[in-house]
Amino acid sequence: MDLKRRIPLLRWSVWRMAAGVRNITTTGQIGDGREAAAVDYVLAHARAGDIDDVLATIDKFAYEKSMLINVGDEKGLLLDAAVRRADPALALELGTYCGYGALRIARAAPNAKVFSVELAEANAANARRIWAHAGVADRVTCVVGTLGDGGRTLDALASEHGFASGALDFLFLDHDKDAYLNDLLSIMDRGWLHKGSIAVADNVRVPGAPKYREYMRQQQGKLWNTVEHKAHLEYQSMVSDLVLESDYLR
Ligand SMILES: C[S@@+](CC[C@H](N)C(=O)[O-])C[C@H]1O[C@@H](n2cnc3c(N)ncnc32)[C@H](O)[C@@H]1O
Repeated sequence: MDLKRRIPLLRWSVWRMAAGVRNITTTGQIGDGREAAAVDYVLAHARAGDIDDVLATIDKFAYEKSMLINVGDEKGLLLDAAVRRADPALALELGTYCGYGALRIARAAPNAKVFSVELAEANAANARRIWAHAGVADRVTCVVGTLGDGGRTLDALASEHGFASGALDFLFLDHDKDAYLNDLLSIMDRGWLHKGSIAVADNVRVPGAPKYREYMRQQQGKLWNTVEHKAHLEYQSMVSDLVLESDYLR
């Protein structure tokens, strides 16, 4: 494997990302225009209507141009397998970014309606361009907001998008790591999950979601059954990470 792929610190875009990482929780972007550049790159290089090629082109951009904070190709395989196991009719992602994770979910569940909640309007606009190019815009929807905004986004999901009791088959948490647990609990409070719903959480080791991990440990065999998958942080093999895959038991 080429050294720059394996060792992220050899890449300028990684150092630039470290400098811009504080922006992620406010603007949702690194701050150097790389997300818009990724969309332009995909539209210029990926075959329209070809989900595989769109995903591969995003991965290529992240490896060869600028590092992106998508779930990425390695952890993406864990996501794909969990989605296939859930075989969802309705799936929800928290944290859209450029639309890569939702596109992987849509590919693994060809009949699913996929929703992705994103705090930054600019990311929603980028993701919609990617989804349109991949040909999935009719069944992948970005909702701008957060689940912590006092109920506005949760209510919108319920009243406009069919989120109802027992309707949610698959949940992917990949947004603000400090919000994982509260947002999961909000979804559980709404009663949207059913026995056999699956929740997948990225970045549980890095940047880290310790409260979520602890909650899943405490609930093992009670409300949830969780498997912890060891993997690497996206687009490199130096830093390890954890993906949690949890089955809802009620
Ligand atoms: C790691 S990226 C998501 C990557 C995406 N899931 C993928 O695999 O392609 C995190 C995203 O979450 C968004 N975000 C941060 N806090 C959020 C929140 N509380 N609710 C929704 N989105 C949030 C950021 O703007 C950013 O776009």
